[in-house]
Amino acid sequence: MVFLSERSRNTPPSPIRRLSRFAREAKARGVLPYALNIGQPDLECPASFQEGVLQAASRHIEYAPSEGFLSFREAWAEWCERELAVSTDPDHYLVTVGASEGLVFLFTTCCDPGDEIIIFDPTYANYMGFAEQTGVRLVSLSSRFEDGFQLPEPETIRKHITSRTRAILLCNPNNPTGVLYGEEEVQRLLDLCHRYGLYLLLDETYREIVYDQQPITSALKFATEDPHVVVVDSLSKRFSLCGARIGTLHVPSPELREKILSLAQARLAAPTLEQQAAEHMLRTLPPGSLEALRGCYQARRDCLLTALQEKGSAAGISCCSPSGAFYLLAKLPVENAEEFARFLLTDYQHEGRTVFLSPAKGFYSIPGSGEDEVRIAFVLQEDSLRHAVEILVEGLSAYRS
Ligand SMILES: Cc1ncc(COP(=O)(O)O)c(C=O)c1O
Repeated sequence: MVFLSERSRNTPPSPIRRLSRFAREAKARGVLPYALNIGQPDLECPASFQEGVLQAASRHIEYAPSEGFLSFREAWAEWCERELAVSTDPDHYLVTVGASEGLVFLFTTCCDPGDEIIIFDPTYANYMGFAEQTGVRLVSLSSRFEDGFQLPEPETIRKHITSRTRAILLCNPNNPTGVLYGEEEVQRLLDLCHRYGLYLLLDETYREIVYDQQPITSALKFATEDPHVVVVDSLSKRFSLCGARIGTLHVPSPELREKILSLAQARLAAPTLEQQAAEHMLRTLPPGSLEALRGCYQARRDCLLTALQEKGSAAGISCCSPSGAFYLLAKLPVENAEEFARFLLTDYQHEGRTVFLSPAKGFYSIPGSGEDEVRIAFVLQEDSLRHAVEILVEGLSAYRS
């Protein structure tokens, strides 16, 4: 027996990866799962990133500065200006090892152990893990499948603000629901934060992935200088660069930035080659490349929704149409969606294929929520999505009989 800290024991396994062992075993048996469980885009990253890697390759890989290369931060600020028509100061950015590290830095610097952050259930599951690591208590307010996962009224949120509340955290567009919150909704949260002296932490990892020509919402557009607002960002999704591990924090408050920098110095630096390659990419990306990306995911979303309506609704599957990110939550006619997702990997196959889904209950922190839901990531081509829905429907019928 070895000693394990309470913090590590309380950190939940990722619901996105928890069933991976069964997927590996299925593959070993010759059954290939459609991986709809993880937000790992199948699209290639921009060719200019690959060029950047070759240009950056050197036999002397030095540490980058802890705050990130200035030239990368300048390229990032210029890219944000081109995409969002906002002017941001490169010195307000800190480069992190993905958005994940940025979030851990924020939980650590904005809160003491026992302090609270308000979140909206369901939300990105790893927030629960970050909270356990840092001793932060997440106070979850539920948003409901039945009304399209809209945010609670400010008055309801206000009732949950205590003397220990330090921040409100919003993922926009939301993983796992795909809901895109507009500027007015974000502004309402910001008003509350101003009233009670809280931080507003905005996770904009999926910011440009929005559908139906809707405007992109970003706090960078209207709260660029607000010391209470931090925008968390990542190169992982919009550039298909999950493995590059580059994220940024936009932190207007000099005091908060300095404290985050102290944490960043303790971990030395974010990856050197990836920053250099990403800088080259940002400076040379052809205009309109995100338009193509949005078009591609929108076509996949539409294909998935059509397949679910045509084949899934008769089988008792219902879902909300996402307006952003590349996920949707589906309600299944089963009591325990985790058991069903596992069954698909361990006991079911159709002509050598099956489907790998994320049970949604791990995205809820209110116990008992989301038991009959799964998250589907539409990160595969349309033919695969259609086939995956067929398998899902047949698998459901096999499971229920
Ligand atoms: C909402 C959200 N935030 C943060 C992350 C972490 O991103 P990164 O790969 O930049 O660490 C993810 C990854 O899926 C995510 O969905």
